[in-house]
Amino acid sequence: MIKVDISNVWGQLSLPDLLAMEKEVAAAHDTLINGDGPGNDFLGWLDLPVRKATDEITRIQKAAKKIRSDSDVFVVIGIGGSYLGPRAAIELLQGPNHNIGKGKGNPQIFFAGNGLSTRHWNELTRLLEDKDFSITIISKSGTTTEPAIATRALRWMLERKYGTDGAKSRIYAITDPCKGALRQMATEEGWETFVIPPNVGGRYSVLTAVGLLPLAVAGIDIMEMMNGAADAKESYDLRSFENPVWQYAAVRNLLYRNGKVLEIFESFEPGFKMFGGWWQQLFGESEGKDGKGIFPATAEFTADLHSLGQMIQQGQRNIFETMVRFDPPAQTYTIGSDWKNLDGLNYLEGKTLDFVDEKAYLGTVAAHVDGGVPVITIDAGELNDRKVGELFYFLELCCGVSAYILGVNPFNQPGVELYKRNMFQLLGKPGYEK
Ligand code: PA5
Repeated sequence: MIKVDISNVWGQLSLPDLLAMEKEVAAAHDTLINGDGPGNDFLGWLDLPVRKATDEITRIQKAAKKIRSDSDVFVVIGIGGSYLGPRAAIELLQGPNHNIGKGKGNPQIFFAGNGLSTRHWNELTRLLEDKDFSITIISKSGTTTEPAIATRALRWMLERKYGTDGAKSRIYAITDPCKGALRQMATEEGWETFVIPPNVGGRYSVLTAVGLLPLAVAGIDIMEMMNGAADAKESYDLRSFENPVWQYAAVRNLLYRNGKVLEIFESFEPGFKMFGGWWQQLFGESEGKDGKGIFPATAEFTADLHSLGQMIQQGQRNIFETMVRFDPPAQTYTIGSDWKNLDGLNYLEGKTLDFVDEKAYLGTVAAHVDGGVPVITIDAGELNDRKVGELFYFLELCCGVSAYILGVNPFNQPGVELYKRNMFQLLGKPGYEK
């Protein structure tokens, strides 16, 4: 079970304050699970965890096996909720350099359609020139500009390389079961398709084909992940302050009420960066509305202690931190002795890197708490496929409960549309002239 350590927040709030929130947190949790709050037509994610492969999961596993055997590279096209989840899990489990040394049998995974950079595009197409590759297009609406542009171009590249029929067997569409341009295109072109259920929003979709197909191609055991999510569904249904979901959701709301309007979600693992990105979208899009919300920021320690450290320690006192910790890996690194000791490091001789990391963590928390920055620690335990599934579901639950405590609809994102409308108008898209 994931543990939430709130011992480093007491300088900023009191236990009676927290306990006084019991009814409020219970009501928010009930609202979420009973489905009687705003946005309740987007609660499909609550029931995604399964312990036995469904037909859809079996098809995903079969497609992943084919892609692993016939592709050096798998390109995942999508943006926002249609891309952050799989990238987060791959980087967390396999590291930010996961593509090094990979090829057919265990393909490299690249992401496209998550921006409009020509430089990024040129780099990707150069890389694909002499490679066998397959693509998945992930878009619930099927009309998002960034992935649509990447799709058109990559599909043509595939057709030039393998012919129309050959290309067809290398394109996988993940979209709404019935509507949207991508569904229509996939049907017309005969591409294999997987479904984003209509009642699952983008940022809650990682346990659908959106996450599962890329993760299976990356060699991650998706049923282990689903089991982890199913563990979470059972464990975190508890209606009391023993539930870590309650602790995290309640404490962050209390801190917010006490003027802590910015949360830094952080870890000492470089592979955690994109997981932070996934969390940022989840909480940012769910809570940032009606003039309310905690601004979700991310940091990677120790690297960012040398850039953001000063601001955290002595800048505006409107910050709190949420630190995610994992158990150290089985393979350790021990610091050796140097007979000259010119760097003065011999005092660490025989100590593991984990030992130093642990002291850096403890030292950082003590310093920040001293500086008036409360720190919540999420102790996730061993890092593996199952744990990542548990973490996804745990944080989704925390987000739903937290947003209902805040008094907003966790499942809409009306503010995301405005930039799209402006862009369409500036680009001259038919129907958006005024
Ligand atoms: O959370 C969201 O709804 C957004 O981030 C979407 O996932 C993103 O805009 C991509 O949308 P679509 O899947 O329709 O292409």
